[in-house]
Amino acid sequence: MLKDKKILLGITGGIAAYKSVYLLREFVRSGAQVRVIMTPMAREFVGPLTLATLSHHPVYIDFFDHTTGQWFSHVDLGLWADAFVIAPLTANTMAKMAYGQADNLLVTTYLSARCPVFVAPAMDLDMYRHPAVQQNMKILASRGVHIIEPAEGELASGLVGKGRMAEPGDIVAFIRDFFSTEQDLTGKKALVTAGPTYEMIDPVRFIGNFSSGKMGFAIARELVRRGAQVFLISGPTSLDADEPGIDLIRVTSAREMYEQAEKIFPQVDVAVLAAAVADYRPAEQAHTKIKKTGDELLVRLVKNPDIAASLGQKKRPGQLLVGFALETDNEFTNAMEKIRKKNFDFIVLNSLRDKGAGFGVDTNKVSFIFPHGHRKDFPLKSKTKVAQDIVNQIVQLLNSK
Ligand code: PMT
Repeated sequence: MLKDKKILLGITGGIAAYKSVYLLREFVRSGAQVRVIMTPMAREFVGPLTLATLSHHPVYIDFFDHTTGQWFSHVDLGLWADAFVIAPLTANTMAKMAYGQADNLLVTTYLSARCPVFVAPAMDLDMYRHPAVQQNMKILASRGVHIIEPAEGELASGLVGKGRMAEPGDIVAFIRDFFSTEQDLTGKKALVTAGPTYEMIDPVRFIGNFSSGKMGFAIARELVRRGAQVFLISGPTSLDADEPGIDLIRVTSAREMYEQAEKIFPQVDVAVLAAAVADYRPAEQAHTKIKKTGDELLVRLVKNPDIAASLGQKKRPGQLLVGFALETDNEFTNAMEKIRKKNFDFIVLNSLRDKGAGFGVDTNKVSFIFPHGHRKDFPLKSKTKVAQDIVNQIVQLLNSK
């Protein structure tokens, strides 16, 4: 799977850098073409000569080769690669990546790379647990960087815990898995809705919900990874999706989401509606901030368009409509009712009764429910893995339509 793949191996300055030598050798053995970029600090841990010899290519460290005056273009390196694998990733470089700092060739190349980026963090356990590091890792993950989690075990400090860089064999297996997925949605177009909607009461207040957009963004990314072209209509979230293949359309209210979905739906093969759309909106939106007056304030609500139901009515043969149901009780019955009303091909049920499921978190626990009542239950997984299960089901249904 890695034969002739162009892999840019980034090495940062941590003791696990010695393992990068084995990682490089594994990539080369798998038939990949490898170029190495090191941070200046990484040079203290592993010799560029070793890496250049194994990769059959000079190692990039500085922006310039001071002996020849040659300039190394971070843009060219980023465009050359099919995958940028940074292993080990130190807390320092992770922070630079999260905040877009560009003070060495490696992080500058990261900013201009268009290929998938994989990172294998490695650091001491207290550093790894630190909220700043965890926050930075979340930022990177939310931007689509693939995190190859560190393993538990003895660390260079002598402490024991999570922080060891994943073994080179496991990193290669991770990348191989990534590329081995068939591009089974090439030529297909998909619509995904994500995030909450905000229904304005006045210029400073709204009715909204806790959706972060993580579930919908993960689905959009998985569809693109499998070759589809994706229109991602998202309510207000802090997430971004700038990978080629995703056309991100930002909206605020349910009515804006409805308008965009109606426009895009006729041209897609599949629509996945993961957004948490407000069913009602204030009947009137005040143009100025509502002042505190009496003890009560009544806000009259009117019904919003039901995007799913409207698309369900227009669904043409061969088109697939996948819904979500977020429930707190009577999960199965409510999900069945929604399948029927909205003409879904299947619905992804998640319940707020399950720990680690639903809004905001990085995990979800779902069941797929089908129109005749058949169900498939899945254990708690990362939203990325849940997205893979959803897309596998979509591919299976598209192939049988
Ligand atoms: O964004 P995250 O923080 O990652 O959280 C993910 C999630 C919990 C939001 C997601 O997993 C989820 O369950 N999304 C659907 C939430 C929801 O609003 O469910 P519902 O049961 O109210 O709606 C049923 C279906 O109809 C959904 O597909 C919804 O997108 C759609 N709908 C609902 C109302 C409406 N006016 N238009 C719609 O299209």
